[in-house]
Amino acid sequence: MVFLFNSDAERGAVFRAAFARELPDLEFVEAGDAVPPERVRYLLTWTAPENIDRYRNLEVLFSIGAGVDQFRPGSVPERVKLVRMVEEGIVRMMQEYVALGVLSLHRDMAAYREQQKARVWRARSIRQANERRVGFLGLGMLAQAAIERLAPFQFPLAGWSRSARNLPGVRCFHGTEQLREFLAQTDILVCLLPLTDETRGILDARLFEQLPHGAGLVHVGRGPQLDQQALVAALDAGKLSGAVLDVTDPEPLPQSDPLWSHPKVMLTPHIASVTQPHTAARSVIENIRRHRAGQELIGLVDRTRGY
Ligand code: NDP
Ligand code: OXD
Repeated sequence: MVFLFNSDAERGAVFRAAFARELPDLEFVEAGDAVPPERVRYLLTWTAPENIDRYRNLEVLFSIGAGVDQFRPGSVPERVKLVRMVEEGIVRMMQEYVALGVLSLHRDMAAYREQQKARVWRARSIRQANERRVGFLGLGMLAQAAIERLAPFQFPLAGWSRSARNLPGVRCFHGTEQLREFLAQTDILVCLLPLTDETRGILDARLFEQLPHGAGLVHVGRGPQLDQQALVAALDAGKLSGAVLDVTDPEPLPQSDPLWSHPKVMLTPHIASVTQPHTAARSVIENIRRHRAGQELIGLVDRTRGY
């Protein structure tokens, strides 16, 4: 029985050591090692390998990331369990990034960056945190963790999900019928939705129109959820006051794209949160133990929902 690791060598070394210690009866191989495909029972990868059908005894495919949209429909056989990465390193980094993004918009840091370039020493007017409503699109693992980190600043917090949620200290909205009401009371919008057919293009001109004038956006979901042209138009018109973007479409962002130099945009190259090998290895090992014991897997993807 084989666990096939298909990612970078640095993380591979950490996984290999953890597997040798914790699951010595499971053979650990890395992409490039010769192994008869029918012996592979578990596979960890970012995208589905070509000819995945040759792994005819594959039981669980682990995504190296928290998102699974990169596995195109049909690229993973239905009989194989698809599991997203649920590990504390990803969670911690996302908490940091969202806090950074929200606080940067709240404290007008992009405008101060422009003032610094122009050597302008001028205080801008400031709202208190308890008057700045922060709303999350998506109320899953990462949004809930970010909310926990933001709560001490006293921002009024809200979120929107597909199904009804009940979270202490958070105004919860759900379903398309409650989206408008949610947006109307959101001054800083954080997108932490998975990419699915329903969420593709959700951050568009229509959605921006429903936000209060001068709202800000922190986008850490997936690039194709955002209409980038509509964003630039909303920023230029003053409808939105600023955006912190970690994801774009395509990635990398082409050199000619206006987002690079937009004074109201802070841009990072999809680094909000990165799988950390020590904690990720621990979580994959835990899931293999669960699988062997016939227990439910943590992070199991519902193929019909797409996340
Ligand atoms: P979860 O699966 O835990 O949560 C997803 C949330 O989105 C749930 O609350 C779900 O609703 C909601 N949702 C999904 N579809 C809809 C819809 N159509 N309408 C309304 N709500 C919807 O995901 P995570 O929190 O773990 O991760 C979210 C995403 O963050 C990932 O899929 C990935 O794309 C992105 N990500 C980005 C990273 C980066 O570095 N930029 C790093 C890691 C992840 P419900 O609660 O009802 O199920
Ligand atoms: C992820 C990501 O999905 O890095 O983990 O985007």
